[in-house]
Amino acid sequence: MNVLLLGSGGREHALAWAIAASPLVTKLWCAPGNAGIAEVATCLLLDLTDHASIIRACHDNKIDFVVVGPEGPLVAGLIDDLTAAGIKAFGPTRAAAQLEGSKGFTKDFCTEFAIPTAAYGRFSEAGAAKAYLAGQPLPIVIKADGLAAGKGVVIAMSKAEAAAAIDACFAGAFGAAGAEVVIEEFMDGEEASFFALCDGQYALALATAQDHKRVSDGDVGLNTGGMGAYSPAPVMTPDLNARVMDEIIRPTVAGMMKRGMPFKGVLYAGLMITEAGPKLIEYNVRFGDPETQVLLPRLKSDLLAALLATADGVLSTFDLRWRDEVALTVVMAAKGYPGKIKKGSEIKGLDAAAKIDGVAIFHAGTIRRGDQIQANGGRVLNITAIGHSVAEAQGQAYVAIDQLDWPGGFCRRDIGWRAIAREREGKLS
Ligand code: AMP
Ligand code: GLY
Repeated sequence: MNVLLLGSGGREHALAWAIAASPLVTKLWCAPGNAGIAEVATCLLLDLTDHASIIRACHDNKIDFVVVGPEGPLVAGLIDDLTAAGIKAFGPTRAAAQLEGSKGFTKDFCTEFAIPTAAYGRFSEAGAAKAYLAGQPLPIVIKADGLAAGKGVVIAMSKAEAAAAIDACFAGAFGAAGAEVVIEEFMDGEEASFFALCDGQYALALATAQDHKRVSDGDVGLNTGGMGAYSPAPVMTPDLNARVMDEIIRPTVAGMMKRGMPFKGVLYAGLMITEAGPKLIEYNVRFGDPETQVLLPRLKSDLLAALLATADGVLSTFDLRWRDEVALTVVMAAKGYPGKIKKGSEIKGLDAAAKIDGVAIFHAGTIRRGDQIQANGGRVLNITAIGHSVAEAQGQAYVAIDQLDWPGGFCRRDIGWRAIAREREGKLS
């Protein structure tokens, strides 16, 4: 079959790498793609907000199946438009994508279906928000309702900081995403990401991962899209995984069905593992970036077959096999990220880095110009390694990174530190 993948990040390179390996693929297309994706797919220059041009490209290239990477097109209803045009696609409808597109929707949904999450209030004007704030303990979490690329969250340590965050939201700091504000109880614990495929009725757990959101070593500095990850998340014991499926994922799938908006696609639950058990921080309705770069190298089964089964609603007959090894990825970003960056610096040494045992390199913001691979975005490369322990995978990833010659880039040198500390404690006890 002919497959079209939409997106251009490290997540999409990992998806392209896994889909291209499927015996079901005749030809893989990707729009817009990047320099790494171009090695396994034919890239098309398409604007992902222009649904009509995507549908035209599907007809022109006889595409049988579309896989959507990022949340933007899902929240904008691309799946609805593709379905209406008779094109099979992987991802939730616009209605179901509200689980990521509106924090208020998700909070109300959790209340209705008794899904554990932080206590909250929803507000559409500053006066009522501040009145609610007065009665709450600190720290307190202030969130813009809509999509804000991970930047719409403030954990306020004082009432004054919280009030300023409320004012900033209503003053338009996050555009339309801040027309409504959610105020949430602060949850204490360790974070983990949990992924499950859902076909509307049935949910199949994929795997877990842990991300590193801060830009600098020791988890300090500005928040980013993610600077590195590993899978599985050691905090997630078999018992906790079962609780997440029973208390969070399955009630969500059943609740969405009950609301008449069945969820089909991948549910990515951002979890806080609190003393009282796992609680939902937020839902995403797509694969994580960089989590996908550590999930897929661990998957032994055919990813494309699983995505098709999800879209076809026959996931309950499906089983997936995983490698026992762990995977770790280190994100390399252009200097200045997550602030202002310079595009166009040359990256050398990619072939030497890719030859390191157990290493796969997934491109994000890269572009080929002549015979050069150049940086073309904030997050640029994902250096992924497989190992028998997080420490071993981390070692291999940094050996590969040291083969690279890219003065315009940087990375954290401590990805996996929390898991490695846990491994050391395990060996000592
Ligand atoms: P979100 O965009 O909702 O995932 O929030 C971004 C980050 O803010 C999360 O990954 C957490 O680190 C943190 N966060 C969000 N909500 C809470 C909460 N209620 N309690 C503690 N931390 C939170
Ligand atoms: N790694 C965070 C995300 O994909 O949203």
